[in-house]
Amino acid sequence: MSHKTRFVALIAAGALTLTLAACSSTTAPAGTGGAQLKDCNVGITMPTRSLERWINDGAQLQKALQGAGCTVDLQYADNKVDQQISQIQNQIAGGSKILVIASIDGTALGPVLEQAKKQSITVIAYDRLINGSPNVDYYATFDNYKVGQLQGNFLKDQLKLDSAAKPINFEPFAGSPDDNNAKFFFSGAWDVLLPYVQKGTLVVPSGKAPKSNDEWASIGIQSWQSDKAQAEMDNRLSSFYTGGKKVQAVLSPNDSLAIGIEASLKSAGYKVGTDWPLITGQDGDKANVKAILAGEQAMTVWKDTRKLGDRVFQMIQQINSGATVEVNDTKTYNNGVKVVPSYLIEPEVVTKDLVQSKLIDSGFLKASDVGLG
Ligand code: BGC
Repeated sequence: MSHKTRFVALIAAGALTLTLAACSSTTAPAGTGGAQLKDCNVGITMPTRSLERWINDGAQLQKALQGAGCTVDLQYADNKVDQQISQIQNQIAGGSKILVIASIDGTALGPVLEQAKKQSITVIAYDRLINGSPNVDYYATFDNYKVGQLQGNFLKDQLKLDSAAKPINFEPFAGSPDDNNAKFFFSGAWDVLLPYVQKGTLVVPSGKAPKSNDEWASIGIQSWQSDKAQAEMDNRLSSFYTGGKKVQAVLSPNDSLAIGIEASLKSAGYKVGTDWPLITGQDGDKANVKAILAGEQAMTVWKDTRKLGDRVFQMIQQINSGATVEVNDTKTYNNGVKVVPSYLIEPEVVTKDLVQSKLIDSGFLKASDVGLG
């Protein structure tokens, strides 16, 4: 080969390398450090923008996927089931290959998932299980039963229920009846607390104490709305806490309900440091972390949603490359049609003394978000 021909051949090889690099499926984009996914089109639907966690969940997953070269459609449905269904229909029509769905009503998506199946779309239930459909491929969530257990055990320990000298006035709340997680949260807590209600260590003046886990929805707050929890607490306080009777502990399954309950207590004149009750929560929303620092909320069960996003991102990488999808639970989440292979992440308790080390040092919240600098 002459010099000239070799030079031309080198240029041609170089051009080929460049072309290959441009459409390569394995070149990491600047800043992501990860592989580019090929032919990756993902539809994400989240329930509502009214709760901080879903905004963070959606934004984080979208960013990771876009960094890996995926086309992403991210939608929020204002807690309206029909709106979520039509968003999913649009994503199917728009060529999504994978759907990530944090459902509003876990029982309402059967028909739309049938359409997804016909297009061979893989469906990941995100945080909340989708019920009554065979067309849910994977479920990624936190250990929802454990969330409730952490809340129940926290109250048990703080109230020293095993050695309490006098009965303690207690009010339990449960989450939205259409959210499959809510029954797990309640069961986890109730398995710890119901025996103390039965023994009379915990007294529920409103009478709103389910006799078994199965009756949890009777005290559920629709759509997890703060104002509905506040109105419910207002009713309980004004009807059942007369003549100086005080509530001493409240089981709140999450932070949005806790905010409503705390507002109700404030307007009924309860004061931190004198008669303020112990209140539980879940999520680590900014307003609630402020309430924890102010002594108005005793704890939150923190679910580091970044870990959930990372897990779902990994599932998508595995699905996209045809690898086996990693799960760690194949027993717990029966959706009525099948047990959905799940990946459960551990939640953790955060109290006032752990806000800095858990939430701020890890970068989940900024100190300035919660008035700490
Ligand atoms: C989530 C909680 C959240 C609640 C209200 C549940 O399904 O797991 O983290 O607080 O919905 O949005």
